[in-house]
Amino acid sequence: MHKIVIKGGVPLNGEVQVSGAKNAVLPLLFATLLAEGQSEICNVPALRDIDTAVALLDILGATTERVADCCRIDATAIRSDEAPYDLVRTMRASVLVLGPLLARCGHARVSLPGGCAIGARPIDQHLKGFEALGARITLDHGYVEAQAERLRGAHIIFDMPTVGGTENLLMAAALAEGETIIENAAREPEIVQLAEALISMGAKIEGAGTARISIQGVSSLRPLEITVMPDRIEAGTFMIAAAMTGGDLLVRGARQQDQEVLLQKMVEAGVMIHPEQGGLRVVGPDKLLPVDVRTSAFPGFPTDMQAQFMVMMALARGTSRISENVFENRFMHVCELQRMGANISIDGHSAVIHGVEQLLGAPVMATDLRASACLVLAGLAAENTTEVSRIYHLDRGYERIEEKLAGLGARIERVSA
Ligand code: EPZ
Repeated sequence: MHKIVIKGGVPLNGEVQVSGAKNAVLPLLFATLLAEGQSEICNVPALRDIDTAVALLDILGATTERVADCCRIDATAIRSDEAPYDLVRTMRASVLVLGPLLARCGHARVSLPGGCAIGARPIDQHLKGFEALGARITLDHGYVEAQAERLRGAHIIFDMPTVGGTENLLMAAALAEGETIIENAAREPEIVQLAEALISMGAKIEGAGTARISIQGVSSLRPLEITVMPDRIEAGTFMIAAAMTGGDLLVRGARQQDQEVLLQKMVEAGVMIHPEQGGLRVVGPDKLLPVDVRTSAFPGFPTDMQAQFMVMMALARGTSRISENVFENRFMHVCELQRMGANISIDGHSAVIHGVEQLLGAPVMATDLRASACLVLAGLAAENTTEVSRIYHLDRGYERIEEKLAGLGARIERVSA
């Protein structure tokens, strides 16, 4: 077990390179199951979740190889179509093998992911979509069994925009017979990249990035070659680190079009942001201004940036309100921030943040991926020393974060707990 120790109060200056997007790599890795032959995915970050996804591909019978920042996967011979519980429970995104296995093998058996810290996170919309495509779905001993001789195109309307549901159904429909329409589809940039990847494999897809996607099924697909887009959430996290510490930072790889609303809210908070040298230059103000935020599906304010924005508001001059409208339990960072002197109260899905002059270093505990990022940000801005424990959560989504931050002047190190 490790923890991260931070001596706060240092402005972050210089430049940092954003890694490949975790939430783009995961569906792309599973999309390789749709084709025989060797696929190659590059700009893949070194993250625990990626290792878990590659381990699952090995279990299913693909041969995998890591060469520099590329993953090579040959899914010619699939020997199993079961994603076991002890793996799925460590990474919910494993449910994204359902669509490809159903389309490729006509059968899949995947452990139900179960809830997680931030909410119940059911997959009912995924299953509703597969049934619409003609699959028979049964639940057995905590596993989802999906079976279909041949998937047939259908008109699917999601109850809510679901990133994973849209990705799973895109991959299944790519090999279904006839046309599939997905309405109320999620519009995240990672979905656009997945659609581009599937099209490069021979799929016929239109409308990715909008709420209505149409897919004309084809009989087979070619292997994939792609370079992963930059991680917009990692980029946003570094931008907030510069904003909170009064730093001057070039975030290389940050793309304005991936995070318009976040950028608008940061500018409203007094942060200076402008495009520069293939990234975004961020200069933190002397004093941050309070800004209200409501999270929603893309292109709204990303729920994955809610905790990070909240800790910035904890230092703003005034009162701000943040409502979390995507997940039902994503305020677990609040009690840890309160221990660092933040003045935050929760009322259901809303948090009211009264800015304070200074956060105070303290030992705190990470509970989920983005909450742990928020605690690191708090430590960077706080007086004295902050120790963040349970940082295995952090390692799921941030590549070498303490090295990257130390490179910007932060006094930060990883020590054994
Ligand atoms: C993806 O999760 C991301 N994970 C999450 O990032 C992100 O927070 C989330 O999208 C929302 O943007 C990956 O891409 C690997 P959803 P996903 O299906 O697909 C409900 C991170 O920090 N829902 O869009 O699981 C669900 O409960 C992670 O990197 C159903 O009710 O999210 C939630 O309230 C955390 N039934 C809402 O929809 C379903 O069948 C959005 O979930 C599916 C979803």
